Amino acid sequence: MTQALSTHTLVAVIGAGAMGAGIAQVAAAAGHGVKLLDNRPGAAAQAIAGICAQFEKMAAKGKMSAEAAKAAGERLQAAEQVADLADAGLVVEAIVENLTIKQQLFKDLEAVVSEGCILASNTSSISITAIGAALSKPQRLAGLHFFNPAPLMALVEVVSGLATALEVSDTLIATAAAWGKTPVHAKSTPGFIVNRVARPYYAEALRVLTEGGADCATLDAVMREAGGFRMGPFELMDMIGHDVNFAVTNSVWRAFFNDPRFSPSLIQQDLVDAGFLGKKSGRGFYNYQDGTDKPLPATVPALARPHDIVVYGQSAAALALANRLQANHVSFTQAHALGDTVATAGGATLRITDGRTATRCAFDLQTPNTVLMDLALDYGKATRLAVSVAAQCDEAAANSAIGLLQAAGFAVSQLQDIPGLIVMRTVAMLANESADAVNQGVCDAAAVDTAMRLGVNYPCGPLTWANAIGIDTVSTVLTHLAQTYGEDRYRTSPLIQHHVFVQKAFS
Ligand code: NAI
Repeated sequence: MTQALSTHTLVAVIGAGAMGAGIAQVAAAAGHGVKLLDNRPGAAAQAIAGICAQFEKMAAKGKMSAEAAKAAGERLQAAEQVADLADAGLVVEAIVENLTIKQQLFKDLEAVVSEGCILASNTSSISITAIGAALSKPQRLAGLHFFNPAPLMALVEVVSGLATALEVSDTLIATAAAWGKTPVHAKSTPGFIVNRVARPYYAEALRVLTEGGADCATLDAVMREAGGFRMGPFELMDMIGHDVNFAVTNSVWRAFFNDPRFSPSLIQQDLVDAGFLGKKSGRGFYNYQDGTDKPLPATVPALARPHDIVVYGQSAAALALANRLQANHVSFTQAHALGDTVATAGGATLRITDGRTATRCAFDLQTPNTVLMDLALDYGKATRLAVSVAAQCDEAAANSAIGLLQAAGFAVSQLQDIPGLIVMRTVAMLANESADAVNQGVCDAAAVDTAMRLGVNYPCGPLTWANAIGIDTVSTVLTHLAQTYGEDRYRTSPLIQHHVFVQKAFS
């Protein structure tokens, strides 16, 4: 197994901004001497003072001893110029996101560092292969992509360009692990893992919003309370900033030669054009001006509890529903599985979305009173569930289906009859993108799940989630979305198709 760099190795960090300072803190805390360089006069010294204050805070909280905090602070040193970094064994660049400027910096570095020095870039969007093209020894360059804030976020993507030597990426993987991080390996492709696979999290919500499926507050609440995501897509985009989020979407879309999988949204373009950049500008999807309350999600008011509830089969949703009804002392009967029906009440049939609209399901299955439920991460624990009602469904039947879910303790949000509701289509597309990343050799299945859990705090890795839903179900959802929209965006990854044919879980 490749060894991590010894703590005797001097680490140089270039760029003392948000990321560089965080990376310097991580390396110093791990025991390395660290030189920090920034071309803004005084920036490196200022960043070091900030890092030392962090170490002191950690010592005050008992997270490290006072001696360790002092020693870690003393391992940091500001550098004046690139020539001062000649004794570094690893250089991590975290300067402005610009290919030409990064290339020039690495060329300057090559002229001063030793033969064995590893060069790394924290770039989040520039090709490592392209940066390496300017170097005389591109094999020593790799991506070392931390997440913000670097001291807190566990994930590091170690990115290999076309020329990167295996021992260089292996050494960086071992070193990141020695620094207490969880490294994953990725081939240098647009967005690497996280910034690529996360695109549908925003894109599907934007699509549903564009089509009037529901308002932002409702969709956010469903994604949190049913999907188990820490933040809904709209509040998250507002926090990231629409300028930043839209730029990443555009850069990944362009880098994939305008693949419709990644095509940006007009809604977000509008927000950027208007200067409604999110929290930082006081307005995005939500209004952050003083005194403005966050809108509440649309929730169906309490409806009558139906008396003829039947729960069908042993699916996760049916079992959870039965448990919840029992816990709430609601009487119901249980019956053997009946196709995909989860429950019936008052003449309505409740099913989980398979990517068709409720109206199409009602037509295809000749069941006019169809009500569809969205996916939940855990039907036993979800506090909210989204539903959609077929156009053919009569009102009393719809009310019975919703009343049933309310009786089981769900807050119910009724969305317009968009296909795949919101959690299911988002998770299906996250799994689809994950499968394509694996299929295209960017990373392995374990890496994509780790990356999405640790890089963006997803409650479950997309491929593990796809296994739990059933790969055939994910495939069906994608097929139906593709049929509805007739767009290449929803094409099913060849790897998902393969797994459906052999009925094999991702591992
Ligand atoms: P920042 O703007 O906070 O800091 C960049 C620093 O680099 C500034 O202090 C600037 O003075 C300095 N700098 C610029 N050109 C320089 C040069 N030629 N030589 C020395 N210093 C130079 O930027 P931030 O956010 O820290 O990003 C830095 C890099 O990290 C970028 O490549 C970015 O894509 C990447 N990144 C950013 C993340 C984020 O959330 N902000 C997350 C992961 C990666």
